[in-house]
This record gives sequence, C-alpha cells and structure tokens, in this order.
Amino acid sequence: MIRLALGIRNPKTRTHFHELLARTAPRMQSQLSVNMCEIVDLGDEQGNLVDSLKSYFKEERGRMAVLISDWLVRADSDREANMLARICQAEFEKDAFGTIAIIALPRRVEDIDRTIDSNCTESALEGVLRLVISRLNYLAAPANLSQVDQSLVTVRALRNTNETEFRDYFRLRHHVYTIMGYLEREVEDSRSKLEVNEADVHAVHMAAFYRNGAQERIVGTARVVMNSEADKTLQKTFEAIVCGDSVAQQRLDTPYWLGLPIFQTHRPMNSIMSEIFMQNQMCGELSRVIVAEEFRGGGISRRLVADALRRSISRGAQRLFLECLQVHERLYEKHGFERIPGVVGPVVDVGRTMIAMEMRAESITKIRASLSHVA
Ligand SMILES: CC(C)(COP(=O)(O)OP(=O)(O)OC[C@H]1O[C@@H](n2cnc3c(N)ncnc32)[C@H](O)[C@@H]1OP(=O)(O)O)[C@@H](O)C(=O)NCCC(=O)NCCS
Repeated sequence: MIRLALGIRNPKTRTHFHELLARTAPRMQSQLSVNMCEIVDLGDEQGNLVDSLKSYFKEERGRMAVLISDWLVRADSDREANMLARICQAEFEKDAFGTIAIIALPRRVEDIDRTIDSNCTESALEGVLRLVISRLNYLAAPANLSQVDQSLVTVRALRNTNETEFRDYFRLRHHVYTIMGYLEREVEDSRSKLEVNEADVHAVHMAAFYRNGAQERIVGTARVVMNSEADKTLQKTFEAIVCGDSVAQQRLDTPYWLGLPIFQTHRPMNSIMSEIFMQNQMCGELSRVIVAEEFRGGGISRRLVADALRRSISRGAQRLFLECLQVHERLYEKHGFERIPGVVGPVVDVGRTMIAMEMRAESITKIRASLSHVA
C-alpha cells in the first residue's frame, strides 16, 4: 500500500495537486502493481501531519508513504530543508518514506527525494512520483530471492582498456543513482547518461555480468577508490568514453582534494586522517555498490563487495572506509565494517546524510592471509 500524503499550505496549490493526483494515482496503482494507492490530505499543521504518518506506518509493516508538501523546504533557511524535513527524516528513517517538496525553482535539495514546482504538469508529477517509489523499493530489503539463475552471473574486474564495458558500467550507475536521487540535475540530464567522476581513475572496478545466450550485460557494480596515483590507462579509456559530454568531462577533471571522497565529507574524521597522512597509509573507499533492480536479492552485492575488497587489499590497501545510508549498515557489517562513532553527515556529491564505516583491522588481516594462502 502507498499513501500519497499532501501537506500543502497554499490553497490554490493544494487544489491543483489534488486534481493531478486524482488522475495520476489510479494509473500508478495499476502500473506499479500495488494493491492500494490512497491520497490523503494531512492539512497544514505540523504535529498532526507527523502523528498521522506515524500511526499509518505503525498499523502494518511494509507500507509506503510519500509526503508532497510546500513547506518541506524554506528558501530562507541555512541548509534549506526546514524543521519538518528534519523531523520526518529522524522519525521515518527506517520506514519506506519519501518526500517531494514543492518549491519555486526545482533543484536538488539535501535529504529531500525530489522537488517540483507548484504549477507542475500531470506528467511531471507522475515522473517524480515514479522515481520516489522506485527509490523506496530499492531501499526495502528484497522480499523474494531473485529468480535469476546465479550460475549465469559472473563477478570480475573490468578490463582497463574496454570502453564498452565501462560505458555499460557507468550507465547502470547513472540509472540507479538517478532513481536514488543522488545526482545533480545536470548530471541526470547529461547527454551520455554516464555517472563517472575523477575518483574512478584511482579505483578498482568490479562488475557483475549476466550472460543470456550470446549476450552479456552488466547488472551490478562496485568500486574501491584508492588514495594512490591516477591510472593512466583508465584515464585514457574514460576520456574516450565521455568525449563530447561536457558535464561528464568536468566531473572527470575535478579531483577530490585529500584523495578519497569520504575525507572531503567528514571533518570529524580529522584524527583518522592525520594518522593516515603521517603514516603514509594506503587506503580505499568502497562505493557505487549497485545491483540492477530485477537482479536484487540473489547475493550479487555480496559477491561484488567481497571481490572488490579482496582486490583492493591485494593492491596494498591497509585501511578501508565507506559511507552509506543507515539502512545498509547491517549489509556492510557482514563484510567486517563497523560504524565510526559520531561521523555522520551530508555526503559530498550525493546530497544525502550518511554514516561512515571502517573495516575492522582483523577483517583486513584475514583477507590478506587468505590471499597469501592462495598465492
Ligand atoms: C543495496 C544493494 C546493492 C543490494 O544488492 P543485492 O544484490 O540485492 O544484495 P544481496 O542479495 O547481495 O544481499 C546481501 C544482504 O544484504 C541484505 N540487503 C540487500 N538489500 C538490502 C536493503 N535494501 N536493505 C537492507 N538489507 C538489504 C540482503 O537481505 C542480504 O542479507 P543476508 O546476507 O542476511 O542474506 C541494491 O539494493 C542496490 O543497488 N541499491 C541501490 C543502490 C544503493 O543504495 N547502494 C548502496 C550504496 S552504499
């Protein structure tokens, strides 16, 4: 069940959205095969709105709700998202809860799923609703095991000179990161639809390939960005792929100062960072762990992450980090990561509040030992 909850103060906007949703909701219900898609007006009183959503989620597990509101974002506030957005985020972090803010100039806003203008068309509203609902599906743990024959899925490193493989890899990242709302508008709309950046030329890249007859396609990705020199071959391959797309080119040309994206995000990591720089430690950051929707739940991310970690450790990584949503903490704990206390905040690039994790030293040692055992 999906509840489309309206919390709209402006009467004209409220009427407009009611009319649009009355036409859109039945279509969404049949196309998204949900048993019910209800539209509920929660009025414009903050307390009522939050209480009503709380009791909705409490009634039954697995419910979804999307709040469409013209007071989630206030233009005059410092970090834009106002108290209502913060309260909702804290309150419904573990629920399948999405937000669409109605604002004058739609753009990406930190921790808000999507923004839309008050005079939007029916198809614009339907478009953002679809993306938000797809995101909520992605955030829910897969209910059923994937129906895909896992013996047809191979996990391996990408070949540094293979433009076709990397193009598919960056496309899948673009597709899923668009759903997740992690991309700036200009990147979402970019010509090539490739999600690539400068960290990629310093990274170990793994992909899951699904073979169907003679055809093979990429259905999963993972990378470990290393604080080491750029790989010249990768640089050449990526230059060729992004050729003609100024947005992708600019991202490829903009380095992360301090080496890893996580160091740019989290100031409270200063003591860890000074240790790394003083001791000249080689580090890696796991990111872009992505599995195509129809392949979820079959253990592909588990294989991708395990192989990416092994590969980066065999390349000399002494410490490994990652940033993730709290809902994914457990997933990474199983690979030996633990949360870095007190380090949480909006992540560079993706515009979402995330936690930071580091792999336990003993887990790294165990992987290193298994590598030398094999050798
Ligand atoms: C998160 C994601 C990579 C998982 O891929 P997947 O191949 O379906 O995961 P797996 O089948 O390998 O599952 C591994 C474990 O994680 C759990 N898990 C998977 N998705 C989960 C989710 N969304 N929430 C909580 N747990 C999840 C599985 O239940 C499984 O648990 P188990 O080891 O107890 O059996 C995939 O859903 C995805 O691409 N999400 C969108 C992109 C994203 O947010 N990536 C994470 C970036 S930090």
